[in-house]
Amino acid sequence: MTRLLTLMGILTALAAPALGCRGQVSEEPPIVPIRNMYDQPRYDPQERSEFFEDGRTMRPLVEGAVAREMEVDPTLSSGRTEDGSAWLLEIPGPVIERKGGMEALLARGHERHDIFCAPCHGLAGDGQGLVSTRVQQLGFSALAAPTLHDDRIRHMPDGQLYATITNGIRNMPAYAHSIPQDDRWAIVAYVRALQISQASRQTAMNVEGLQ
Ligand code: HEC
Repeated sequence: MTRLLTLMGILTALAAPALGCRGQVSEEPPIVPIRNMYDQPRYDPQERSEFFEDGRTMRPLVEGAVAREMEVDPTLSSGRTEDGSAWLLEIPGPVIERKGGMEALLARGHERHDIFCAPCHGLAGDGQGLVSTRVQQLGFSALAAPTLHDDRIRHMPDGQLYATITNGIRNMPAYAHSIPQDDRWAIVAYVRALQISQASRQTAMNVEGLQ
């Protein structure tokens, strides 16, 4: 028994330098007695490959491939005309249809707007959301969300407004990941309604000389 223990002690002492200890830095490749799936014949991300002509292991997407969950009509997903040369001027008909008509689209847009846009742009779209008020108090006015009743934004094509929500713009983050495509169009519809409501108010104020 003692002999066996001594033998084990010697073996451990001999093996220790070869195996190294956890946390130690070693130039040697690790010794893995039971290999299981330790070494796999696979490429690492961004690794070079001799197999492909362009040397990349990470293959570029096949041109024109469409993921199952993706919108097949590129105009609906991008907000641009079919040849990509201009913004869509209006909310596409198919979106209004599958959302159950303009009234339902507006109701949905109202709800989504108040959740996703109002924190910065304000419930009335006047740029007085809680986040904007707070950044102004902290002295970072440049980060405040603008009013959506600006003349330029009022005359922006629907497709461009949709793309602003989808991709974000300068200091505004993108919302494609958290707001599904048709909901983004619904928000566009509601922002238009907000703009019209404010425009008529402003016109009325001008007429009455209140501004
Ligand atoms: C986290 C705050 C925040 C949220 C939420 C937010 N925005 Fe913005 N938005 C901004 C800021 C900041 C800008 C100004 C960006 C700049 O010019 O740097 C902006 C700019 C805009 C513009 C003007 C773009 C232009 O061309 O100048 C539009 C339109 C707009 N937002 C619409 C929306 C809509 C619709 C939503 C809801 C889906 C939304 N935003 C949500 C912060 C926000």
